[in-house]
Amino acid sequence: MKISKAVLSESTKLSQFIKMVFDSSVANFYSDQGNEEFYKYITPKAIEEQLQKDHWILKAEIDKKLVGIIEIRSNNHLSMLFVDPQHQKRGIGRQLLVQAIKLIKQNNSSVKMITVHSSPNSVTAYEALGFKSVSDEKEVNGIKFTTMEMKIPE
Ligand SMILES: CC(C)(COP(=O)(O)OP(=O)(O)OC[C@H]1O[C@@H](n2cnc3c(N)ncnc32)[C@H](O)[C@@H]1OP(=O)(O)O)[C@@H](O)C(=O)NCCC(=O)NCCS
Repeated sequence: MKISKAVLSESTKLSQFIKMVFDSSVANFYSDQGNEEFYKYITPKAIEEQLQKDHWILKAEIDKKLVGIIEIRSNNHLSMLFVDPQHQKRGIGRQLLVQAIKLIKQNNSSVKMITVHSSPNSVTAYEALGFKSVSDEKEVNGIKFTTMEMKIPE
């Protein structure tokens, strides 16, 4: 498996991949309004705009096929982690997180904590990855999430 930084010209491929994983694993937990809100966030244009601001994405590929992505905002917030349903529970999410933390530290060695707004289906996975809940579940614009944080290992 190869993990590398995604580039602007891949926004359509990234958008299609994220929508496919979202529809199969997350959409059922949100209202229609929540799903629409999420789709707006992951259009190719929105992804390009975010990459040109303060977001970056690492992609995981097997035989050049996209199998996972992690998106980091402001170098301290995990805004998306999506693994192809057929490749889940094989350590790809963890490897993406480990590589993202390396890059966060390279970018700014003073970052000590990362946060995530976990969807209801992935709180247990984030706990296994080292995050702890810091609030009860909230719902904003139909999107349900639990704020979690993790101390970055030294
Ligand atoms: C959450 C997600 C990214 C995890 O990716 P993954 O590649 O399957 O995770 P890994 O195989 O690296 O597993 C990491 C740890 O989480 C645990 N885990 C993974 N999926 C889990 C699940 N559905 N329920 C409980 N634990 C889970 C694993 O057992 C592992 O723990 P361990 O090392 O103690 O055994 C993946 O399930 C996914 O894409 N889900 C749908 C999209 C989503 O909800 N993303 C989060 C949006 S905020």
